[in-house]
Amino acid sequence: MEKQKNVHNKIVCTDIGKTFIQKGTQQVHVLEKISLEVHDNEFLVILGPGQCGKSTLLRIIAGLETPTEGQAFLDGKLITGPGPDRGLVFQSYMLFAWRTVMGNVEMGPKLNGLPKKECREIAKHYIDLVGLQGFEKHYPHQLSGGMKQRVGIARAYANKPQVMLLDEPFGQLDAQTRLFMEKETERIWQTEKRTVVFVTNNIDEALILGDRIATMTGKLPGKMGPVYKVDFERPREPTDMEFLKLRHQITEASELVL
Ligand SMILES: Nc1ncnc2c1ncn2[C@@H]1O[C@H](COP(=O)(O)OP(=O)(O)O)[C@@H](O)[C@H]1O
Ligand SMILES: [Mg+2]
Repeated sequence: MEKQKNVHNKIVCTDIGKTFIQKGTQQVHVLEKISLEVHDNEFLVILGPGQCGKSTLLRIIAGLETPTEGQAFLDGKLITGPGPDRGLVFQSYMLFAWRTVMGNVEMGPKLNGLPKKECREIAKHYIDLVGLQGFEKHYPHQLSGGMKQRVGIARAYANKPQVMLLDEPFGQLDAQTRLFMEKETERIWQTEKRTVVFVTNNIDEALILGDRIATMTGKLPGKMGPVYKVDFERPREPTDMEFLKLRHQITEASELVL
């Protein structure tokens, strides 16, 4: 039990299980007894190897999948479907190729029926926040992978969600761009605090970004492993003593192949 009394839980998952039916009859048990709490404005990282059900769990929180057992709550309300209170950023960019950066980012506010001028202002604000000023008129194919993912982040933010859900957003980037984007993610989060659930299979990424790291164990069904508090200062460097110590502790305790 956590001692901090004033911590508000933004997201609560209780004993979530998920079984998929494949090819009509085959059952795949993907998640078992997943319980998780994500605090208000916390950066929570879910760390686990490939194929342990991380995306499935995130999709349940997003409301894109229904759990077979257990429940997921947002602000105490049962999650029954997707909603504008949750912004999603996935590994594949999912940008609209025929729309410019501005067009992609202002789409959410437009769909919400906001006046044109306001949509522009909101979009501009988030384009600036993610460092894409000057690229408003570019199309996705004119951008690098890191820049495309910035557009994805700006687009999610432009809907003003309370919660950001990111599923291995930097998995396709080269190591250097990835580290840079992790630093940028931290900067953006510190500028505009949100509750973040960030899924990764990369322990260094987890240690750079997380307030806490919730580990998941491999081999289906995926289960919750230990949760680690990362309480050393930001910005963190992979060469810091504390970083290396916690990294060692997590790898020793988990089945992560690194
Ligand atoms: N819609 C689905 N139907 C059937 N099986 C699925 C579905 N979605 C995911 N799975 C299965 O769940 C397992 C875990 O997938 P996933 O949640 O994507 O894990 P991770 O994100 O950790 O790699 C995989 O073996 C996958 O085949
Ligand atoms: Mg996944």
